[in-house]
Formats: sequence, structure tokens, C-alpha cells
Amino acid sequence: MNMIKLGVNVDHVATLRQARMTYEPDPVTAAGLADLGGADIITIHLREDRRHIQDRDLDLLRQTVFTKLNLEMATSQEIVDIAIRLKPEQITLVPEKRQEITTEGGLSVTSQKEVLADIIRKFKDNDIYVSLFIDPDRDQIMASGEVGAQAVELHTGNYANAKSEKQSVEMLEVLKEGVKIAQDAGLMVNAGHGLTYKNTGPIVECMDVEELHIGHSIVSRAIFVGIKRAVKEMKDIIYKHYLIKQNLRVPKV
Ligand code: PXP
Repeated sequence: MNMIKLGVNVDHVATLRQARMTYEPDPVTAAGLADLGGADIITIHLREDRRHIQDRDLDLLRQTVFTKLNLEMATSQEIVDIAIRLKPEQITLVPEKRQEITTEGGLSVTSQKEVLADIIRKFKDNDIYVSLFIDPDRDQIMASGEVGAQAVELHTGNYANAKSEKQSVEMLEVLKEGVKIAQDAGLMVNAGHGLTYKNTGPIVECMDVEELHIGHSIVSRAIFVGIKRAVKEMKDIIYKHYLIKQNLRVPKV
């Protein structure tokens, strides 16, 4: 199994900038520093209401990210057109509600199979890799394969919000089962949402995923330690638990 890649979501750097409608802090600078800290992927969400990331950020990130740019987006025609013009390496389709604080649940694939199949075809025709952000639910996973997605990002929110050790173990089992179903359906599997410096280790040890997408916790730590170091510290956690999973010795630091 390869080392899990880390996608750093810099939306919340833009959230802080938009609080004053000014030019700082710049998520483009944050992405550059995250890259220096070892980010494998830069993730941003261009929301229809432009509450954090702006079109200018996406334009500049397209010109400056040379690892992998993952654009989270809803299925709106306006954003689909922007994505096809700018060609991020990967798009992740997410549900979007105006009133929500962050993306709450996974996308319902089962209820909009035709719409999704059509959009996914367009992206694939433009060589853009398509992932769907879904709950670890068998029907949603199977439907993701049926509509032509190449990957799914399993929503880790229920695990992250678990109120007890028992609940957290149960949620990990649900995620593990989700990974198996998705892999059997030929899908690449990613995961994310609500992951922190405390709860990411068990995810690395239990889930055979390719990418983790983490935003709020890394940006929060970055306020105190800087984003380069915050990213490196998350990469170190992923590496340590990857070694544990492989029964390899963890070097003392
Ligand atoms: N993955 C997806 C699809 C998301 O929508 C988000 C939030 O923007 C994340 C991962 C990152 O979640 P968090 O900010 O809780 O780490």
C-alpha cells in the first residue's frame, strides 16, 4: 500500500480574508507554503455564493499549483463551466446548501443519477478526474460507480463527531466497509471532513485510502505555528501511522 496523500484545503484562509473583504491572508500564498510543508494536493471549494474562495484564487492556483489541484464544487452549470475552462486535475462534487456552515452530508447520488452521469461525462471528456463526496453508504457507493465517477471521497464526519470511543470504533468499521465496497466496485477511495491531529491516525491505520482532504484543523494550527509546519506535522502523523499499519518500526524523533 502506498503512503496516503494529503490534500490541504485552504478555504479557511480565504474565510479570514473575506471577513474583512480585503487582500490578506491570501490562500494562494497559503497553498505555496503548504506545498513547502509537503502537501501532495491543494484542495479548494469554489462555492456558488463565493463565501471564501474567489474566482481570482482559482485562476491563480491553477497557474501556481504543480502538484495536484482538487476543486470541490456543486453541480451548478456556472461552476461546471469554470472548472472545464480551468481544468483542475480533479474535481470533487459536493452538495451545497446556502445556510450550512460547512458541507454537511454527502452527495445524494442515487437521487440524481442522470444529472450526475451527464456532468461526469463532460469532465471525463475534458480529462478531468471525477470524485464524488458521499457518505459511506452501500447504495451511494454503488451509484457512484454506475454514474461513471472514478473516485469517491468518503465522508468522515460521523467518525470525527463520535461522542465515545465505542461510537468512534463503530464509525471506523462503517468507513472500512465503505472502502471495501468502493474498491470492489473499481473506485479509487479518498476520505475527509472533520479530520484533526487527534483523529487522523486511526483513519490511516484502518482505511486503505489514496488521499485525505483536511482543511479546518490544519488552518487552525497554522495560526499558531505557520502553515508550512502545520502541514508537515499532519504529514508526520500520516507517515507514523502508515508505518504502524505496515508493522514497521517508527523512528524516534
Ligand atoms: N472534503 C470535502 C469534500 C469537504 O467539503 C471539506 C470541507 O470543505 C473537507 C474535505 C475538509 O473538511 P475539514 O475542513 O473539516 O477538514
